[in-house]
Amino acid sequence: TDQTHIRNFCIIAHIDHGKSTLADRLLEFTGTVSKRELMEQTLDQMELEREKGITIKAQAVRMRYTALNGEEYELNLIDTPGHVDFTYEVSRSLAACEGALLVIDATQGVEAQTLANLYLAVEADLNIIPVINKIDLPSADPERVKQEVEEVVGLPKEECILASAKEGTGTQDILEAIIKHIPPPKGYVNRPLRALVFDSHYDAYKGVIAYVRVVDGKLRQGERVTMMATSSVTEILEAGYFHPRLVSDGALTTGEVGYIATGFKNVKDCRVGDTVTVPGAIGEIEALAGYKPAKPMVFAGIYPVEGNDYPLLRDALDRLQLNDASLVYQPETSNALGFGFRCGFLGLLHMEIIQERLEREYNLAILATAPSVEYYVTRTNGETEIVDNPSAMPSFGEIEKIEEPFMDISIFTPSRYIGAIMELVTTRRGIFKEMKYIEAERVLLNYAMPLAELIVDFYDQLKSRTQGYASLDYSLAGYQDSDLVKLDILVNGVAVDALSLIVHREKAYYQGRALVEKLRSLIPRQLFEVPIQAAIGARVIARETVKAMRKDVLAKCYGGDITRKRKLLEKQKEGKKRMKMVGNVEIPQEAFMAVLSLE
Ligand code: GTP
Repeated sequence: TDQTHIRNFCIIAHIDHGKSTLADRLLEFTGTVSKRELMEQTLDQMELEREKGITIKAQAVRMRYTALNGEEYELNLIDTPGHVDFTYEVSRSLAACEGALLVIDATQGVEAQTLANLYLAVEADLNIIPVINKIDLPSADPERVKQEVEEVVGLPKEECILASAKEGTGTQDILEAIIKHIPPPKGYVNRPLRALVFDSHYDAYKGVIAYVRVVDGKLRQGERVTMMATSSVTEILEAGYFHPRLVSDGALTTGEVGYIATGFKNVKDCRVGDTVTVPGAIGEIEALAGYKPAKPMVFAGIYPVEGNDYPLLRDALDRLQLNDASLVYQPETSNALGFGFRCGFLGLLHMEIIQERLEREYNLAILATAPSVEYYVTRTNGETEIVDNPSAMPSFGEIEKIEEPFMDISIFTPSRYIGAIMELVTTRRGIFKEMKYIEAERVLLNYAMPLAELIVDFYDQLKSRTQGYASLDYSLAGYQDSDLVKLDILVNGVAVDALSLIVHREKAYYQGRALVEKLRSLIPRQLFEVPIQAAIGARVIARETVKAMRKDVLAKCYGGDITRKRKLLEKQKEGKKRMKMVGNVEIPQEAFMAVLSLE
C-alpha cells in the first residue's frame, strides 16, 4: 500500500477504560475477525494476561477499511501495554504510530494513566483522538468528561467521539476520524531501510519474531539485515503482518507495520527500540532515536524449595529470558536459602508475572524473598558500589552515605480521600509537592516518594483507603541521600540473610517490632522454643518467641481412623513444599514476604 493510504495508530487508556473491547469492535467492524473468533480473544494472547486482565505485550494488527469517501485504507493498530512497569515498551509502540485514540471511561473521567499515557503520546508527536467510552452505562456523564478533556487534556471538547465499545456505538465515527485526523506516514521510499523494533517475542520454530515499523525503504524475505544497537546480523526468514494471526507475504514497505522472523535464538539480539537496516547502509544512516536497554528497578532472590531443582530453575530463567530481555538474573547464595538467583524486574507486576510463570509453566516450587531496590552506597574510603540485596550491604561503620531511588508519583482521587492519602503517603516517607483541582470534587496530588516504600504494598493500601477510587502513576525522579540502616532478623540466634531489610532509621524500631510479631505468627511451632529477634548491627531492638510444640501432631490421631491420619500427613507434606530449613528451624515462604504486609 502507498503511504497516503496507511494509518498507524494505537489506543491509550487508563486500565479498564475499555481499550481491548474497543480494539475488538474495530477488528470486527473492518471484517478482520469474526465475532466467533473474537471469543477466542485475539489481542491478549497469553493466558496470564487474560487472567490478570491486563495487556503485557504490545501487538499489532492490520485492518482494511473502505472509508465513506470510497477509498480503501490499511490501518495498523498497535496495542500498547497498560501498566507503568512497561512504560518503555509503551513509548516504543507510540513511536511506531502517527496517532492515538485516547479512551476515557464516561463514568470515571481522566485518571492517572490517562494522563501518563497522554504525555508519552504528545512527546511522540502523535495526533490524539479523544474517545469517551461506556456511554451505554446509566452512570455515564459524557458532558462532564468532555469538560475534563478540554480542561485537563487540552483538546477541544467538540473533538470527542462518544462510544460504547460494548454495544458498538461510535465505531464507524472512530474509523473515519482515524482517516481524517491521523496523518499518513512520511518516510522515504528510496532511502536505505530503517525499521523500528517496537516489540519482539521468541518462537520455538521461527526464532525471534520482531514487530517492526518500516520508517524508510523496504524489507524483503531472504534479505540480510543488521540490528544497529547490537550489531547482530541475520537473514529475514519471513516477513508479513498480523491479521491478527501471522500472514507471510514476503515484504514490508515504507510506513508499514508488520513482523519479521529473524532466526535469532534470543530476544537480546533484537531489542525493543533497536533499528533494523541493511549491512551496506551502516555509516550512511542514523539509528532511529530512543533506543534504551530496559532497566530493572525491583530486585528479589528466587530460590528453589528443593535444592535439587536449582538446575531446573536456571534452565527456566534462561528460557524466560529468551523472550523477555528485561528480565535479568545472576546466581547468588544465601546461608538461609542455599543456591538461587538474584533477579531484576521492571516493577512489581513484572516480578509477579515471572514468579507465576516459573510455577505454572515450569512447574517449579520456588521461594521468593521480599523485593528490594538498587542503592548507591559510598564507603568511607570513597569507593562507591551498587547494592540490590540488603544482605550485601556493607557494615555501617564503613558507609559514608546511601542513596536510594525516589519516584515522582501522581494520584487522582475524589477530594474526600485527600486526608487518608496524605496520611498514607506520609507514613511512606512521601514528600508533598503539589495539589491541583481537576474539578470541584476531584484532585491530582503529586509527591516524591522512595521506590522502596512504593513496592511494599503501597498500591493496595491506596486502593483500600480510597475504596478503589484513587488511581496511581509513577516514574523515576532520581537518587537521593537517605538515612538508612540494615535490619537483621535472627531466628533461633542465627541471622537469616534472606530476611534482612534496608529501612529508614526513624522507622527501624517500629518495623523491627512489627516484623518479629508477624514472624512469630508465621513460623510454626517446633519441638523447641524459637526466639525471633530484630537487630541493627549488634543491637537487638525487638524480640518474640515461638513457643515449643506441646505434642506430636500425630498423637491426636492414635486410635482414630487411618484416613484422617493420612490426610494430616499429606497436609503436612503440602505445607512442607513451601518450607525451608534454616539452621534447625522450618521457615515458610510467607515469612520471607512478611514485610509486604506489615501495616
Ligand atoms: P486493560 O487491558 O486492563 O488496560 O483494560 P482495557 O482498557 O483493555 O479494558 P477492557 O476492554 O478489558 O474493558 C474493561 C471492562 O469494561 C470490561 O469488563 C469490559 O467489558 C467493560 N467495557 C468496555 N467497554 C465498555 C462499554 O462501552 N460499555 C460497558 N458497559 N462496558 C464496557
